Amino acid sequence: MTTFWSLYITVLTVGSLIALLWLIFATRSGESKGVTDKTMGHSFDGIEEYDNPLPRWWFLLFVGTIVFAAGYLALYPGLGSWKGVLPGYDGWTEVKQWEREEAQADSKYGPIFAKYSAMSVEEVAKDPQAMKTGERLFATYCSICHGSDAKGAQGFPNLTDQDWRWGGEATTIETTILGGRHALMPAWGEVLGDQGVHDVAAFVTTKLNGRKLPDGVSEAQVANGEKLFSTTCVACHGAEGKGTPMLGAPNLTHPAAFIYGSSFAQLQQTIRYGRQGQMPAQEAYLGKDKVHILAAYIYNISRPAAAN
Ligand code: HEC
Ligand code: HEC
Repeated sequence: MTTFWSLYITVLTVGSLIALLWLIFATRSGESKGVTDKTMGHSFDGIEEYDNPLPRWWFLLFVGTIVFAAGYLALYPGLGSWKGVLPGYDGWTEVKQWEREEAQADSKYGPIFAKYSAMSVEEVAKDPQAMKTGERLFATYCSICHGSDAKGAQGFPNLTDQDWRWGGEATTIETTILGGRHALMPAWGEVLGDQGVHDVAAFVTTKLNGRKLPDGVSEAQVANGEKLFSTTCVACHGAEGKGTPMLGAPNLTHPAAFIYGSSFAQLQQTIRYGRQGQMPAQEAYLGKDKVHILAAYIYNISRPAAAN
């Protein structure tokens, strides 16, 4: 901090304290002594105010807060670049304190994380202690999107089942969390037109999902949808619609796992405008060790039997 700003803050802070002290003593000197039934002379909706002195306890409390402030500012950093006379607060900042606590936590938990890092994801998934840690990490860093039960929500996949968009092998899960994923489902509205979007959605609903024909849709339209699917969609979703994990293109034969909704209207919305789901990369943020435990945690909750 430059000398100017340091002085600026100091003058403002000390000035305000002095002004407050002056205020309380200046108004006190004008008060009548002792309890009186004289009023201040004004009336609001018939409510009047006695001209009594400030209660003593209130006055002392006010002075007390100013004395406290003066003591605090002498002991701790607060007045510009003044570091305070308390030892250990030399150059104290919240950032430094946080970094110190981080370093302490790292030296305390580092060896525990290192132990798990040397084990495979599958092995860590069998360790009850690691799973407790994983559960806490998940609650802190992942539940905001995937839900506290990891069952997902609109736009966010369920992580407790075997419907994987990017693959459910232990190492694949770890890769997903470390590096994040960016899915790209192109928008087909312009290419296929409204009728094409409608027909291909009808094909997904009936032939891929085995659900009944939506109201007002004909078999001919479904057949047209099938043709469109085999030219436009197979490249990513596969000939049978089972998906391509390398592209994050989901299996379209299992509507319960659709994250953008499986109704006829929602399907058309997805196909017309496309979707770009993003799983944020965690490596730089959480570090490899924590991600390793999280991968094991996801591995475990998606295969309840694996824990035993
Ligand atoms: C370039 C590859 C690609 C092509 C071509 C493609 N898709 Fe997709 N599709 C994806 C990806 C990737 C996702 C996942 C998007 C996400 O997670 O945000 C997806 C998601 C979807 C979903 C949403 C599933 C859910 O979970 O809600 C539907 C439905 C779908 N595609 C249907 C189609 C249809 C129909 C076509 C052909 C008209 C098509 N896709 C063509 C890559 C593709
Ligand atoms: C900002 C929201 C967000 C946060 C935070 C987040 N995720 Fe995700 N995650 C997503 C989205 C969206 C997808 C789906 C990407 C796609 O469309 O393919 C996803 C996908 C995944 C997948 C792949 C699922 C599959 O079917 O292949 C895994 C595994 C995963 N997340 C784990 C985690 C873990 C563990 C954390 C906590 C460290 C986490 N996620 C935090 C949004 C989030």
